[in-house]
Amino acid sequence: MKRRKFLKNSSLSTAGIFSSALLTSCETDKKLKPVTEIIKPIVIATWDVPNATDKAWQVLSNTGTALDAVEQGVMIEEADINNQSVGKGGRPDRDGNVTLDACIMDKDSNCGAVVYLQNIVHPISVARKVMEDTPHVMLAGKGAELFAYEKGFEKENLLTEKSRAEWLEWKKTSKYQPVINIENHDTIGMLAIDANGDIAGACTTSGMAYKIGGRVGDSPIIGAGLFVDNEVGGATATGVGEEVVRTVGSFLIVELMRQGKTPQEACEEGVKRIISKNGEKPDFQIGFIAINKKGETGGYCIQPGFSYRVYSEKGHINKTAGSYISS
Ligand code: GLY
Repeated sequence: MKRRKFLKNSSLSTAGIFSSALLTSCETDKKLKPVTEIIKPIVIATWDVPNATDKAWQVLSNTGTALDAVEQGVMIEEADINNQSVGKGGRPDRDGNVTLDACIMDKDSNCGAVVYLQNIVHPISVARKVMEDTPHVMLAGKGAELFAYEKGFEKENLLTEKSRAEWLEWKKTSKYQPVINIENHDTIGMLAIDANGDIAGACTTSGMAYKIGGRVGDSPIIGAGLFVDNEVGGATATGVGEEVVRTVGSFLIVELMRQGKTPQEACEEGVKRIISKNGEKPDFQIGFIAINKKGETGGYCIQPGFSYRVYSEKGHINKTAGSYISS
């Protein structure tokens, strides 16, 4: 059963690439004049993940879709055992189980998600299969894992020696105290605009280290950890998921952009909304990034220390996000 349309990678025409949105007629001299530069293709991602944004850029610069770019981009981090907050090598819950959450959203508002997925390296690709091959949006736990095997994904032990050793050390005190920008350096969220001007997003995480078994954060929840509206833009989040869920953070930011805020202003407003629910100096981190239809980007966080990657024809840079609390 395929309820989703197959993407037509080959349909980019010159006319599509050089969108008419780049140009608008000038009333006075009747010539076509560029009034605003649209930056596309472009990819942005939470944290300093150059290999991931580089992979996404390769896809985009070969006329790939934004959807393929964000999936393949975040897969780099999911497979990297040195990234202990995503995919294989992720820190386990307090019982020693690595459980993964992810979601993906495309230009037509199709979306797919998996929560509490075990033994599969690439939850983002399972989320895409949920989106494209089922009538559902979200699969959880054993059901998601069995679905992944049906789709050809292989079973793999995700708990690396390093993460296991750290978990055993943690168990000596079992003190649950997330460390800002370390345990909370958790989620890889990625947003891209392709040469056709279409937007997609992906978000993937192993969640909070040593969480209670069964805990799910914001990352697989459409509207919280990720939201895309192809008419407006996209947003994604990192940090303590509970706080992002409470304010439906990514949806909020896209709606603020719809009302005319820039991505930067919208991210700042998203953080302020969380501050307003938690008092002036919360002891946790949240970071948001956003992109609008013009390819303008923004990022903002609560605590200093969050950065995001931007890759476009203008270059490939790591941007330090401004923070509500100064250093
Ligand atoms: N932001 C990821 C999580 O809280 O699980």
